[in-house]
Amino acid sequence: MEFEDVVRGRRSIRGYKKKPVPRKVIQEIIDIAKNAPSSMNTQPWHLWVVTGDALDRIRKGNTENMLAGVPPTRDINAHGAYEGVHRQRQIDVAVQLFEAMGIARHDKEMRQDWVMRGFRQFDAPVSIVLTFDKVLEAGAVCHFDMGAICFGIVLGAWERRLGCVINSQGIMQSQVVREVTGIPEDQNIMTCIAMGYPDDSFPANGARSRRQDTDGLVHFVGFED
Ligand SMILES: Cc1cc2nc3c(=O)[nH]c(=O)nc-3n(C[C@H](O)[C@H](O)[C@H](O)COP(=O)(O)O)c2cc1C
Repeated sequence: MEFEDVVRGRRSIRGYKKKPVPRKVIQEIIDIAKNAPSSMNTQPWHLWVVTGDALDRIRKGNTENMLAGVPPTRDINAHGAYEGVHRQRQIDVAVQLFEAMGIARHDKEMRQDWVMRGFRQFDAPVSIVLTFDKVLEAGAVCHFDMGAICFGIVLGAWERRLGCVINSQGIMQSQVVREVTGIPEDQNIMTCIAMGYPDDSFPANGARSRRQDTDGLVHFVGFED
């Protein structure tokens, strides 16, 4: 695949085939993604690749805690509810996904089912939990580094016909993830990436989220043309 096809063609995948992802393929993807830039080449990232029974235990613990009303525990600062244009974009993509899935606006049961799927990381066969060295938590620079390697993983996967959804839902209960994986206290959990072979019959996988016009986000300064 051409680079542009990978970037333009990628979308979040939320329905997966029940087909394991070979460890070798994941290793290849990570070998590529680790070429991401990082501030002063600090490479503050760690990747915890989870599958099988361990991943099922994370799904179970996450779901049980969320249903029991255990408040989410994140290792990074959350911004609270989105507002304004950010809220609007959040709604737009949710509407697209619900439309694709045939979930009516007032169908509480189906909406709850969708949220629960998220807490299970959409039943993907693999989840990569991204952590960074806690000693850097006071700054925001390492978050940039984490985004860089995260996108590299997702693109490397897409090139190999693997789908992903970066998700916060799957690691809402960080103590569950730590317990199962053994992530040490000197690492902060940033996010996770659910990964697997896309189930092309899963309607939400066809949804294409929109982007604002380039003119709306770019400011050219000092150009003569
Ligand atoms: C940091 C981050 C967290 C995300 N968390 C979730 C999540 O918890 N659940 C989910 O379904 N999608 C999640 N997403 C996926 C976004 O909703 C998705 O990337 C966005 O709507 C754009 O759609 P696209 O990836 O198909 O282009 C997350 C993406 C990012 C970058």
